[in-house]
Amino acid sequence: MNMLSKRALLQRMAAGALACAPVNAFAQQLRSSVSEANGVSLRQLAARRRLFYGCAANTSQLKDGDFAAALTREAGMLVAEYEMKRKTIERKRGRFDFRAGDALLAFATTHGMAFRGHTLVWHRSNPSWLEDVVNDTRDPKLLTNYVEAVAGHYKGRLHSWDVVNEAINPEDGRADGLRNSFWLKAFGPSYIDRAFHAARQADPKALLVYNDQGCEAGLPENDRFRAAVLKFLERALTRRVPIDALGLQGHLRAFGAQVDQKKLRAFLDEVKSLGLRILVSEHDVKDEGGPPDMSLRDKTAADTSRRFLDVVLGNSATIGVLTWGLSDRYLDRGWFGRQARALPLDAELRRKPMWQAIAGAFGA
Ligand code: G3I
Repeated sequence: MNMLSKRALLQRMAAGALACAPVNAFAQQLRSSVSEANGVSLRQLAARRRLFYGCAANTSQLKDGDFAAALTREAGMLVAEYEMKRKTIERKRGRFDFRAGDALLAFATTHGMAFRGHTLVWHRSNPSWLEDVVNDTRDPKLLTNYVEAVAGHYKGRLHSWDVVNEAINPEDGRADGLRNSFWLKAFGPSYIDRAFHAARQADPKALLVYNDQGCEAGLPENDRFRAAVLKFLERALTRRVPIDALGLQGHLRAFGAQVDQKKLRAFLDEVKSLGLRILVSEHDVKDEGGPPDMSLRDKTAADTSRRFLDVVLGNSATIGVLTWGLSDRYLDRGWFGRQARALPLDAELRRKPMWQAIAGAFGA
């Protein structure tokens, strides 16, 4: 079978994946031949170290056959970029729409990929009715019923859930470093405990993750952020809140505040000492502010990624890395209308220096 017919078949499979699951054995045989044709993949490199590599995607991207082929080649885990957030799932109060999440799960299952959920409780990306109802009623079932319904729908089928996302913000001035969100104003800090207990009850098999961004760079604000995260995790675990892992989002800037490897390494050692696992949940490297020379921007972004991943993957509590997308193809045009180049593959699905950096961090 030549590449063209493989590509044509993958396009049909990718389209079909939104409606039905082709024969797994055939998908497996096809995927292995595709990966052979393209050399070793990030999925394979990660698996060799008993780690995972994955990425975020959305259902419209799965209809792009070339992209779907690259996705099944490179990624061993999939996460919904936005279609499993409450704004999408519960647009109208009490009416749950799981179609997009189910389509992404079907695609992952068809291609032997693990699947993770993002995110059950966040202060953003909620349906327009939610915040007012929470403020008016202060009914904690608005939080726990949603977690139980959604985590229950996917029970036993997910690797992990980002149960609570971005609940920490020391700049809000609270002694506990928590974000002064509408969730916290309505229910106090215990909303986090309620969310994790509800998720554990609904899906005992899923790894439960606290996910946030701000622990990576070396500025004083990042020092404060890391201290607040550690304080939060220590106190939550003392209260026996069922948190299994810390999700480091890993949104970096090639030409901004740099990762401080010493500070990051010490922080992750502390996280590991709490008995938690670690995953990089949303890694990308933005190149705004870089020089006109694209190859120099790409190299700097790759070096930024490598410096970060070398520290994270050097910690034995780390279980894997996900990037927040696979290809630049779907990124909004960034700085001065320039094509953003934040991900491992370029818009034509060619491997970039960032791909090499991730491969190197996995030990290639
Ligand atoms: O493209 C669809 C359009 O077809 C549809 O009609 C419309 C209906 O609302 O939605 C459009 O999708 C938008 C999507 O971005 C496009 O990728 C969604 O509206 C929009 O909400 C969504 O924004 C996402 C944002 O989180 C809020 O959910 C971004 O994709 C996503 O990259 C961003 O990701 C967050 C993480 O969840 C948490 N960490 C930070 C990270 C970056 O902000």
